[in-house]
Amino acid sequence: MLKPGVLNRRICGEVISRLEKRGLNLVALKLMKISKEKAQIHYREHEGKSFYPSLIDYTTSAPVIAMVWEGDEAVMQIRKTAGATNIKDSLPGTIRGDYCLHTQHNIIHASDSVEAAEREIALFFSPDEIISWTDESAHWF
Ligand code: PPS
Repeated sequence: MLKPGVLNRRICGEVISRLEKRGLNLVALKLMKISKEKAQIHYREHEGKSFYPSLIDYTTSAPVIAMVWEGDEAVMQIRKTAGATNIKDSLPGTIRGDYCLHTQHNIIHASDSVEAAEREIALFFSPDEIISWTDESAHWF
């Protein structure tokens, strides 16, 4: 998910391009304004943490771009391309390391396990919105 602010900063294309160039397949994409209820479900494991209220406020403050990516080890590859959650640890060259200064306003959410990805995809997409495709040049990646 590209979080609020990415649209306003006009960098959606740049961030999506990094994931495409990694060799992953974009199989679903949706511009949406997330309701407070959905944000609370999405971030339910963080309920009670000090940053939870501001995380919900931030996520619901403006439109986001929800996406589904497919590919070998997609969860791990996207997490690595996104960079560390804590901005102090996110290295230049990663999405977070190149585009944000503050952990609470990082620009991308990436599912941290296949189980989390399945849960999060089901929260934001219906099955008919996910379009798998094959790329004849995939072996070059
Ligand atoms: S943690 O610290 O282990 O709970 O971190 P993690 O599970 O990776 O994700 C926490 C999400 O909350 C967002 N967030 C913050 N994390 C830590 N500290 C602060 N202050 C904070 N503020 C917000 C963080 O960006 C993670 O959201 P996503 O959407 O996954 O990036």
